[in-house]
Amino acid sequence: MEKLVIKGPTPLKGEVTISGAKNAAVAILPATLLIDGTCTIENLPNISDIKISCEILEHLGAKITWNSEHSITIDTSNITTTKAPLDLTSKFRASYYIIGAMLGRKGEIEVGMPGGCKLGARPIDQHIKGFETLGANVSVEKGKIYAKAKKLKGAPIYMDIVSVGATINVMLASVLAKGTTTIDNAAKEPHIVDVANFLNTMGADIRGAGTDVIKINGVEKLHGGSTYSVVPDQIEAGTFMLAAVATRGDLTLKNCITKHLESITAKIIEVGGNVEDNGDSIRVWCSKRPNKANIKTLPYPGFPTDLQPQMGVVLSLANGTSVINESIWESRFQYTEELNKMGARITAQGKTAFFEGVKKLYGAPVYSSDLRAGAALVVAGTAAEGITEVYNLEHIDRGYENIEEKFRKLGAKIERVKE
Ligand code: EPZ
Repeated sequence: MEKLVIKGPTPLKGEVTISGAKNAAVAILPATLLIDGTCTIENLPNISDIKISCEILEHLGAKITWNSEHSITIDTSNITTTKAPLDLTSKFRASYYIIGAMLGRKGEIEVGMPGGCKLGARPIDQHIKGFETLGANVSVEKGKIYAKAKKLKGAPIYMDIVSVGATINVMLASVLAKGTTTIDNAAKEPHIVDVANFLNTMGADIRGAGTDVIKINGVEKLHGGSTYSVVPDQIEAGTFMLAAVATRGDLTLKNCITKHLESITAKIIEVGGNVEDNGDSIRVWCSKRPNKANIKTLPYPGFPTDLQPQMGVVLSLANGTSVINESIWESRFQYTEELNKMGARITAQGKTAFFEGVKKLYGAPVYSSDLRAGAALVVAGTAAEGITEVYNLEHIDRGYENIEEKFRKLGAKIERVKE
């Protein structure tokens, strides 16, 4: 078992380069299944979810060449099976994108129910509704999903809720469908735009990604032969921005799209931090105790649920009592029990948590319940006085590239230790 041992407090200072976006990359990789040929993908984050995605694609027949630790060339001309490996697909959430992509490419797929962070119920009814509207038969039995279609036909689809995964999955399924699909009440996250840009680069005809109506005109085939670079990670960038505030540091983030960070910037200014937008880099600094603030998580462009735990660390240290209302996931306050072990005063009741700010956090052994909770605990450990040991690193490694190396370069005293 591995743990991160952090000796704090350290105000993080310096420059950090943001990696490619996990939640875009885990959709772009399955999207390559729609191409009858070869393409190159760059700026992939070096994280375990990407390695597992590549293993699944290889199992289906794709040939992958690693050009560097952030770039692959993938040949999907020969897809040899329609059965995805159950052990791998159950390891993470985004394996459900194999369904949309393989329905488009082969008209058939058998896949295990997706795994991923345990954030409460994570239904996939909107994905299934979308596939069925396009003409597929979908059944869920004994932990497996079977989907089959003779030829998918474009159709209007209204999403009952705003879902990132369902929007992308239906987009994947409809790219090669006959006719036009419209997705109404679509999600607008930056990774949705990135997946659409990738598909359009390969010959798809998708319009309106980034708005709540996406129109996909089906095309005969996607051509390969192009290179695509994954968008910078909005959530990794937000994590470092909030780490700068929580540790009262001064960070410059390189390779980020500041437009994607507006809701975070607004909250940082509200709590008394400073933000300087320099186009493709952003500087965040804070020299005093943060002010209290209230947060409600919302789909993009609202404040992202995936930064709620990191913001929770800032508010634990704020002057006054703050309230966070989590509107996306049922169980995203598991990290508050761990922060309380470090001296925070947080009371979570259902989807609302009250943060009575304390002046200091103190090091303690703490356990990541999920990916973003883990990142929040690393931020808390860096801000806290004394030694923090963060356990369950497999969650953090799914989505943050070299987290300890990036923190160490910014001054943190952090080591990965094998027990
Ligand atoms: C994506 O999950 C992200 N994962 C999550 O990030 C993120 O928290 C979430 O979007 C919201 O931004 C990936 O992109 C791989 P949703 P996803 O479908 O697609 C309900 C991280 O830490 N819903 O937008 O699974 C659902 O229960 C992860 O990187 C249905 O009811 O989320 C939730 O309440 C964690 N039926 C809401 O919609 C459905 O068919 C939004 O979920 C689908 C979703």
